Amino acid sequence: MLSIKVEGGHRLEGEVKIEGAKNAALPILAACILADGTSELRGIPLLDDVQVMIRMLEALGASVTAASDAILVRSGPSDEYRCPSDLVCRMRASLLTMGPLLARRGRAVGALPGGCAIGARPIDLHLKGFTALGARVKMEHGMIDIRCDGRLTGARIYLDFPSVTATENIMMAATLARGTTYIENSAEEPEIIDLANFLNGMGARITGAGTHVIRVDGVDSMKGTSHVVIPDRIEAGTFMVAAAITGGEVKVNNVVPDHLKSVTAKLREMGVEVKVGDDETSVLVSKKRKRLKATNVKTMPYPGFPTDMQAQTMALLSLAKGTSRIVESVFENRFMHVAELNAMGANISVEGRGATVRGVEYLSGAEVKATDLRAGAALVLAGLAARGETTVLYAEHIKRGYLNFAGKLRSLGAVCWEEEAE
Ligand code: UD1
Repeated sequence: MLSIKVEGGHRLEGEVKIEGAKNAALPILAACILADGTSELRGIPLLDDVQVMIRMLEALGASVTAASDAILVRSGPSDEYRCPSDLVCRMRASLLTMGPLLARRGRAVGALPGGCAIGARPIDLHLKGFTALGARVKMEHGMIDIRCDGRLTGARIYLDFPSVTATENIMMAATLARGTTYIENSAEEPEIIDLANFLNGMGARITGAGTHVIRVDGVDSMKGTSHVVIPDRIEAGTFMVAAAITGGEVKVNNVVPDHLKSVTAKLREMGVEVKVGDDETSVLVSKKRKRLKATNVKTMPYPGFPTDMQAQTMALLSLAKGTSRIVESVFENRFMHVAELNAMGANISVEGRGATVRGVEYLSGAEVKATDLRAGAALVLAGLAARGETTVLYAEHIKRGYLNFAGKLRSLGAVCWEEEAE
């Protein structure tokens, strides 16, 4: 087991560079299955989840090689449509290979996916989309088997909830379908625009990505292309909170400030200063007042406040003056970090999808558990501000989404390190 130890009380100062977005890299890698030829991808963060996707692609017949600052994915005709269960079970985003496999090879078989334990996380919307495109879905013994005869057929699909990966999966499946597909009530996340740009670079015909209706006109074939992945807005948001929680001043480089609007708005409401750099690729975050102000946060699909920033923001609000209310409207069970923050002296109570955070004057270092990726990051942030030493157990969760998290924090003046334990 990996743990991250943090000695609290050190103010963060300096500059940090944000990686390419994990949640854009994963669907973009999966999309390579659709093409004949080689794609050159820059800005792919070599995180644990990304390594799982790369191994998945290799198991599905693609070759993946590193070339200085890019990775090359060569894909072409192959009969392989079975996703290895050991990989699928490690990451929910492995589902993203299903749409491309179905479109390109007419069949996709895999186990029900794993990932962070933050709610039921059904896959009905993915399957509804595939079925509407003409596929047949069979579920037996925990395995999903989806097939179609010949090409998929364009259709009009309404999503009951704007699911990010369902939108991506259906959009990818529709690229090689016969005719036109409309995805209505589609998710609008920047990562979906990035994927659509990549797919269009490969020859797809997609319009409307980033709005609530996406149109895909099916094409006969697609080829490899070059692409630079957008910056990770969640990693950026996490470092913005790190600056605020330590009363520091950090310039967060390689960001798209527009993607950070909801997080920036909330930080400003609390009294954190956020200045957008003149070049629009950085933000300078500083906290000058003694205590931040409480505020209310509700997670929503983009452009609302991201659920992936909820835990980190809760850590920050646990030290604010006054009472804050956090409503988690995306996932039904994403408050597992509350017990851990309370073990550090926070005063948070949960009722259903709402949490009441009564600000305390200080947190105390403790041994706590990373229950999922973002919860783990939140506990490290709490540890940075706490009195004494904090040990975040099960820190391997953090490595799924943050590259060199402890090292980057150290470069800003934090005292924290990784430790392998039994
Ligand atoms: C993606 C992100 C994840 C983020 C989440 C919400 C990736 C790889 N992961 O996850 O980091 O936390 O968006 O911003 O991009 N739902 C259904 N049926 C489905 C699919 C989803 O009911 O078929 C529900 C889920 O249970 C959840 C909600 O829709 O309550 C949102 O989930 P979704 O947007 O699908 O999240 P992911 O795409 O899994």
